[in-house]
Amino acid sequence: MLLKKFKAKIVPSSFPWCVMVRTVFKVAIVGAGGGIGQPLSLLLRQVEGIDELALHDLRGTKGIAADTGHISEHGTVSGYVGKEELEPALLGANLVVVTAGMPRVPGMTRDHLMQANGGIAIHVTKAIACACPEALIAISTNPINIVVPTAAEVLKEAGVFNPNHLFGITTLDVVRSKKFIGDHMNINPLKVNIPVIGGHTGPTILPLFSQCQPAFRGDNEDIERLTHRIKEAGTEVVLAKGGAGSATLSMAYATCCFVQSLIRAQNGQEAIIECSFVASDVADAPFFAGPVELGKEGIKRCLKIPQLNEFEQKSLDKLLPILRKNIEDGVNFAKTFTK
Ligand code: LMR
Repeated sequence: MLLKKFKAKIVPSSFPWCVMVRTVFKVAIVGAGGGIGQPLSLLLRQVEGIDELALHDLRGTKGIAADTGHISEHGTVSGYVGKEELEPALLGANLVVVTAGMPRVPGMTRDHLMQANGGIAIHVTKAIACACPEALIAISTNPINIVVPTAAEVLKEAGVFNPNHLFGITTLDVVRSKKFIGDHMNINPLKVNIPVIGGHTGPTILPLFSQCQPAFRGDNEDIERLTHRIKEAGTEVVLAKGGAGSATLSMAYATCCFVQSLIRAQNGQEAIIECSFVASDVADAPFFAGPVELGKEGIKRCLKIPQLNEFEQKSLDKLLPILRKNIEDGVNFAKTFTK
C-alpha cells in the first residue's frame, strides 16, 4: 500500500557503501497550459515537498516544463501533451490538481460551464481512476459545486472513491475574504482568518463574519457589503477582463496555498485547517464547503458548523436547497454521461 502510494527511490547517500531509500512525491497538474495552470506550475516550483511535477494539457506543456524546469529549485518537471499522454502524466501521482476547463465570460454563471466542463471532468476523473486511484484529487474546474459530485460518481463507478481524497478548491473565497476584510480593518490580510462555507457560486458562498479572527470591526452594513463583494468577486474579475476569461492569477495563488497545506499535512504537520468543498455530513447536503482538518489520509475530519448569527443562519438555510440541486445535477450528469 505504502509502496503503491509513494514510489521508493534509491538515492545514493554521501557514504559510498550504503544507499538511502526515500519517497518521491509527485504532483500532476491537468490543465497546466491554461490561464490558471501556467502560473500554478510556476508557483508550485517553490513549494517544498514536490519531487516531480507532471504538467498535462492539450498543448504547450513541453515548453512550460522546460521553462519552469530551469528554475533553481528542487525537483523535476515533465510535460505531457494530448489525450494519449494524460494517463502517463498521472501515473504514480500522489496528488492531481485539475484546472482544465473553459472559463466563463460576462453574462454567464459558473453553472453554465457544466455544458463545457462536465465532459472534461469525467474524462480526467476516469483517467485518474485508472492511473493513480489512490491519489489526492483537488479540483478547481468550474462549476465546482457540480463537477466535484460528478467526479465522485465516476470514482464510485470505478470502485475507487475515497471521500477523504477528493477536494473542490474553494480557497480563493477565503483568500478574497482575507484581503477585503484586511483592507477594511486596515490590517495585514494574512493576519485575517475567516471560514467560508457553502459552495463556490455567488448564491452559495457564505463567509462567516461571526467567526472572523481577529474579531471583525464594522457594522451590519459593512458585513452585508463585504459579504456581497466576496460572493460576487469572481464576477468582478470576469467583468474586468471583459470577455477574456475569469480569475487566473489569484486562483493559481489560492490553489498553490491549498496544495501547500495538503503536502504539509501529508508530511505529518498537525492541525492544518483549510476550507474546501468535500463529501461531508456537517450540513444537510452530501457535499459542503467548510473548514476541514487535513492529515496524512487527506481529510482527517470535517469541522462542525459553528454557532451562527441570525444573518448567517438565514443565508445558510437559503443556500442549502441550491447546493443540493447542484449536487443532484452533478450526480445525474455523471450517470447520463457514463451510460
Ligand atoms: C472565481 O471565483 O474567480 C472562479 O470561480 C472563476 C469564476 O468564474 O468566477
